[in-house]
Amino acid sequence: MCGITGCIGDQEAAPVLMRGLKRMEYRGYDSAGIALLNQNGIEIRKAKGKLDVLEAHIQGNMPQGSVGIGHTRWATHGEPSDVNAHPHTDMKGEIAVVHNGIIENYLKLKHWLISEGCEFVTETDTEVAAHLLNYYDGGDMLQTIYKVMSVLQGSFALGIISSRNPDSLYCVRKDSPLILAKTSGASFFASDISALLEHSREVYLLEDMDVACLTKGDIVIRDGFGKVVRREAMRVDWSLEAAEKGGFEHFMLKEIHEEPKALRDTLNSHLSQDGAAISQDEMPVGAEEARRLQKITILACGTACYAGMIGRMLFEKLARVPAEVDIASEFRYRDPIVSPGDLFIIVSQSGETLDSIAAMREAKRLGGRVIAITNVVGSSIAREADAVLYTWAGPEIAVASTKAYISQIMVLTLMALDLAQKRALITEEEAGEALEELKRIPQQIQSVLDQKEVIQRFAHKTFDYNSIFFMGRGLDYALAMEASLKLKEISYIHSEAYAAGELKHGTIALIEPGTQVVMMATQDALLEKTLNNIKEVKVRGAQVLAVVGEGVGGVAEEVEEVWYIPRTNPLFAPMVGIIPMQLYAYYVALEKGCDIDQPRNLAKSVTVE
Ligand code: AGP
Repeated sequence: MCGITGCIGDQEAAPVLMRGLKRMEYRGYDSAGIALLNQNGIEIRKAKGKLDVLEAHIQGNMPQGSVGIGHTRWATHGEPSDVNAHPHTDMKGEIAVVHNGIIENYLKLKHWLISEGCEFVTETDTEVAAHLLNYYDGGDMLQTIYKVMSVLQGSFALGIISSRNPDSLYCVRKDSPLILAKTSGASFFASDISALLEHSREVYLLEDMDVACLTKGDIVIRDGFGKVVRREAMRVDWSLEAAEKGGFEHFMLKEIHEEPKALRDTLNSHLSQDGAAISQDEMPVGAEEARRLQKITILACGTACYAGMIGRMLFEKLARVPAEVDIASEFRYRDPIVSPGDLFIIVSQSGETLDSIAAMREAKRLGGRVIAITNVVGSSIAREADAVLYTWAGPEIAVASTKAYISQIMVLTLMALDLAQKRALITEEEAGEALEELKRIPQQIQSVLDQKEVIQRFAHKTFDYNSIFFMGRGLDYALAMEASLKLKEISYIHSEAYAAGELKHGTIALIEPGTQVVMMATQDALLEKTLNNIKEVKVRGAQVLAVVGEGVGGVAEEVEEVWYIPRTNPLFAPMVGIIPMQLYAYYVALEKGCDIDQPRNLAKSVTVE
């Protein structure tokens, strides 16, 4: 949710912190701040608004010092304001803290600290950490940090500086990602690899309850018991450019254009060397388990959940395994029934979504086996799951997920095909043919991208709608859900997604002359029924845009606008069918002048409940 970073070295820290925050701004952008240690003690600059505001604020007045921490905020406790922006300090201003996560027992601690004489200046939960560090400081900062960690409940990654320990920088992790890197003369931490890439390709992932002490060029990590531990270095393959806009106006547009590559990379990474079969080194369900499989439960949030809805239908259609999808944030609160060995699939781009982590832990606690599908190597979900299948979409920076979504569908498709083969429902030859079709999808996506002007023109005509309805049947219903979410989150247009057949059970009352309806109609077998639904809304005055497979007749004459997508196996059509909808959402938001990569109120990685 928030992004935190810190550095200690020979160079001036403020510019390094600002560059790191720039790379993490997608994690939260309602305020930002930095704190530097220098001969005057701790100097803080912070401001409400995006990083540019802070940048302007410190122009010509950059705080000096080679030790510092920085923060970019997504507000949870206390409105976005200068005063609530991090870093926060104790009353003497000798300890400064940046925080990602939520301190759940902060109110209790705050009341107690007030009774001990502390004066609070912010509404944040974080401020208690700064006061506690001062309260418990007995001269040994490490011991103080352990003491504070023992009283904090919730999830937190903290970065800490203290003018009493000017040669060290500290950070701790509990249920909130934290990554370290070092060079010969400096050490760094950050919530996200992208903030560290300019310093090193080799990073160290902290584990839960780890405490790290960073000095110039050296890092000592201790586990939750205070024992010095070694954390394996992880090599990061993607380049700094991969996390930059590369000439596109927005990350989202760049990432949409990267979809053919993302799918190709994801598919190839799960195929045998000759590309003719699904690699068995990768697939986590063995033949015996596949035959015995009674049920699959997919747990995820938001877009990942909609990818899961497609996965559910593929597991049922191809592998004939009953499957369900659960919203991760609901799962643990509904007393789920889990039998030992039940199979769970957690889908998460970031691998850090708190609700998905909690659902995964609950599934494991109840005896389930958990397979993760994630885009981030070394993320919490990747590390805690029983097995991982990676999507190789590359870094996804725009808050609106695009290339990660279709890569998730690709992995779910491969899993479904693999299970179908192991359950003897399709032959090796049929599986091979399906793989050949999958290999053609990146090219089909490219041909949709090549016609983006048509979509842009339509967006230009329709961007001022107040409300849009998305509809579809079967896989197209899942697609409609994602298309609707994409439009809402970046253009702020109200939209609803409906199973087309469900419309007449209530929602059709909302259709009136001029209502915009988008009908997803990529499933030929359901086309006739979908056409009936188009007629139902048309006679009530709706304007209809339909997305159909090339060569499908009988739709163009019924609707105002039709977009054709290349034909593929209908089960794989969602990966192509979503592309025009992502572009439509993008161009509508562009017309409206919205902040596309960083939509209001949202953050890329939702690490709070
Ligand atoms: C996608 O456009 C959204 N920003 C959001 O729904 C996202 O998919 C969801 O928060 C889950 O994130 P994850 O895949 O990183 O777990």
